[in-house]
Amino acid sequence: MKDKQINSQSAEFSSRLIAWQKIHGRHDLPWQNTQDPYAIWVSEIMLQQTQVTAVIGYYAKFMARFPNIARLANATQEEVLQHWSGLGYYSRARNLHNAAQTIIDEYDGKFPQDFEKIQTLSGIGRSTAAAIASFAFEQNQTILDGNVKRVLARHFLIEGWTSAPKIEKQLWLLAESLVPEQDMVAYTQGLMDLGATVCTRTKPKCDRCPLKASCLALAKNKTKELPTPKPKKAIPQKQTTMLLILDGNEVMLEKRPSSGIWGGLWCLPEISMQDIASEVALRRFGLEVEAEEPLESIQHVFTHFKLEIVPQPLQVANQPRQANMPNMIWLPIEDAIGAALPTPVRNILLNLKR
Ligand code: ADE
Ligand code: SF4
Repeated sequence: MKDKQINSQSAEFSSRLIAWQKIHGRHDLPWQNTQDPYAIWVSEIMLQQTQVTAVIGYYAKFMARFPNIARLANATQEEVLQHWSGLGYYSRARNLHNAAQTIIDEYDGKFPQDFEKIQTLSGIGRSTAAAIASFAFEQNQTILDGNVKRVLARHFLIEGWTSAPKIEKQLWLLAESLVPEQDMVAYTQGLMDLGATVCTRTKPKCDRCPLKASCLALAKNKTKELPTPKPKKAIPQKQTTMLLILDGNEVMLEKRPSSGIWGGLWCLPEISMQDIASEVALRRFGLEVEAEEPLESIQHVFTHFKLEIVPQPLQVANQPRQANMPNMIWLPIEDAIGAALPTPVRNILLNLKR
């Protein structure tokens, strides 16, 4: 009973989509109305990361210069890349060229029909293989690209980032269950066309959608929230201790290595929290010091992390203090404030003066 329900629901989904595609879908794209797997393959690779409108011109020129697998396989990589120039993601062109040579060497120059074999060719993943097998060989294979994920997440109210492994697996199973027995060309093209023209990322045109009667996102007013966007990475919080080594009115600054964060700027010597307890770190300055209470910490925000800086004041106890070491300088605090310092270091010194 349950299976039958699911089956009749999925039959509704695919039959509505197929009927819609035949009337409202796209029919005159340069790679449609052919069963040549090579022509379809080239189009699917170009369309992986590039919009239809940008692909059309490149596609015509590419197919004129490389009209079949043998001509592509026999060209130099240089010339293949030249015809890809401007489309971007050039590994697509290298993979295409490489796969054409594989087809010549291993499949006698004929594009393989076996679904597993198609997927072993360079640059052809599961969804692209399914698109080629559906369009060229009318196999009942399942596509799942970004557009299809969006349609399914909305229609079936699937929450969670659609490329998270758990969600993606669920979407593949769902997509497989929807594949019809017949009309694979119209069905596969219909899924692509619906996602590209009706169930668009922003402002989907639900009033014109053939699936609006059964769409759960529409019913629950969640088309805006779905598909759930990729979670933003939390900015990591790091911590450091900066030593305010003071001798009367003078403070010690250390020059940072020329590369890396704050490269070449004058800075307060940094040590880790653990080091301050051991006092090992302090010996590298050749100083006897007396630690005071740490000052209030300062939060500094970089693009990729946040840094909490704990200023640790240390008064020099051995008199006279040792001569300067390389990359190290003693300056009166007022002068230090005017030196080439990172902002948080300057703020620490300004706070100290107050
Ligand atoms: N995007 C990926 N494949 C496509 C196709 N065959 N037609 C239109 N857009 C596509
Ligand atoms: Fe997408 Fe709207 Fe159609 Fe639902 S009704 S599938 S949200 S276009």
